[in-house]
This record gives sequence, structure tokens and C-alpha cells, in this order.
Amino acid sequence: MDSANYGNWVPLNLLYATLGIILILLIPSLFPIFLVIRIILWIISGLLLLPFLYLMYLFYQFSVHNKKLQYKVWNLVIQKLSWNGQGKALDIGTGAGALAIELAKKFPESFVMGIDYWGKLWNYSKLKCEKNAKLEGVTNQVVFQKASASNLPFKDGEFDAIVSNFVYHEVRDIKDKKKLINESFRVLKKGGVFSLQDTLKNEKKFGVVEELIRDIKEWGIEEVNFIETAHEISMPNLLKFELKTMGLLYGIK
Ligand SMILES: C[S@@+](CC[C@H](N)C(=O)[O-])C[C@H]1O[C@@H](n2cnc3c(N)ncnc32)[C@H](O)[C@@H]1O
Repeated sequence: MDSANYGNWVPLNLLYATLGIILILLIPSLFPIFLVIRIILWIISGLLLLPFLYLMYLFYQFSVHNKKLQYKVWNLVIQKLSWNGQGKALDIGTGAGALAIELAKKFPESFVMGIDYWGKLWNYSKLKCEKNAKLEGVTNQVVFQKASASNLPFKDGEFDAIVSNFVYHEVRDIKDKKKLINESFRVLKKGGVFSLQDTLKNEKKFGVVEELIRDIKEWGIEEVNFIETAHEISMPNLLKFELKTMGLLYGIK
């Protein structure tokens, strides 16, 4: 029987593109060209081979054949959401629908909306989300809609719970990440709960995390907690290196 497929956080396109560049560099060196040019081509392709191998390793760690890691990361988001499952939840940047569908399964009385921009880089789509929801038996509870996290097409305080995983750093149509996160809080009702995970310790993107938490509190959010993902989930050290900036903000508005 077909089972839901929630994809891989390492886009296949990126793997193919890196491999393509390595091959384009290597193939001319098979022809009788100047030795110096040949050596330069070998050095550049050798330098690209390392990131390529690391991406392959990440792809394997995140792949459905090795289900554990992506599932552990999604579970952490759900686990930290202190919700009773009554009302409406929003999954911001739903991808292939994993978090939205998991919420619907955990809370059979809830209604869940999943939004995503579904750009070209990722192999995700509204159709894939709907297919996954069908395979998981939650079509009556989940709806997917194309929208940007930077300008959510919802009223202030429309949702009882909001979740998001590994999305804010990807959003390109707004520069200011604090404004972006503030837009998520706008659609959460007072007393609603949130669990938002991303590369929040990447200071270049989000600034100092303590300042981010202080700002969120200044927006009137009642309870804000922060944990580092790599401290909560067991994973190989090589992966900790990649996920070291990941953190989770959770609490009550
Ligand atoms: C690494 S994937 C994570 C997907 C999903 N949350 C998960 O955990 O599997 C990043 C997602 O962010 C989405 N995204 C990028 N820019 C967006 C935007 N402006 N609004 C909504 N989603 C966006 C991408 O389409 C992609 O699905």
C-alpha cells in the first residue's frame, strides 16, 4: 500500500546541480589540455566534492529510508505545543504537510490549515500535501493553501495554535526576520499556543536569540521559552554540526 511521503529537507535539485558542476569541471580534464588547467579543474572539483558528499550524507539522514531524524524534529515541535486540540491550528510553510497532518492525527477534533509558498527549489506541492492527508486519513480535518509566511491571508487572532518548522530562514520575500515572525504571531489569538522551530541561533539571519526573545515578549506574548534542538534530540555529531543553529520557540500568546 502507498504510504505518505514527506520529502527530504535536502532538495534533490541541489544534489543534481552540485554533481552537474563537478562533472562539467572534470570532463574537460579527460582531454589533452594544458596540465596547469587540468590541475586547476581537479582542485576546484575536489573542493566541490566535499560539500557534495556532506549533502549526500544529510540527504540519507533525512530520507524516508532512515525515517528517524526528520520525524524526531517534527515530534519535538508537536511535543512542545501545549494545546488541547480544540479549534484551529496553522502550519506555516507546511512543505509536504508533515506537521499539519501530524497535528490533525493527534487532535481528531481540530481543524488544521497548512500554508506554503511551494517555490521551485523544493519538491513539495499542494497536491502532494493533499495526497498525504488522504493516505493518512485526515482529509476532513486539513486544508492546504498557497500563501506566503510574510503576508498571511488571515485575520488577526484567527488561530488557536501555530506551528512552523525550518521555514523562516528560507523566506525570501521579506528581509526583516522579526517582522516575519511577528506576522505569525498576528494570526494567533490571545491565549493561543505556538511552537516554532528554525535556525534561530543563526545570528546573521535572526540576530542574537536573547534579543529576539526580548522583542517577542515586548510584542505582548505572555510566555516564551527557547530550547536548542540539538540538545533535545539524539543525533550523530556530524549532523549536530549542521543543525547547531536550530532552536525552538514555544509558549503562549
Ligand atoms: C525545509 S522546508 C520545510 C518544510 C516543512 N515545514 C517540513 O518541516 O518538512 C522549507 C519550506 O519553506 C517553504 N517556504 C519558503 N518560502 C516561503 C514563504 N515565503 N512562505 C511560506 N513558505 C515558504 C518552502 O516552500 C518549503 O516548503
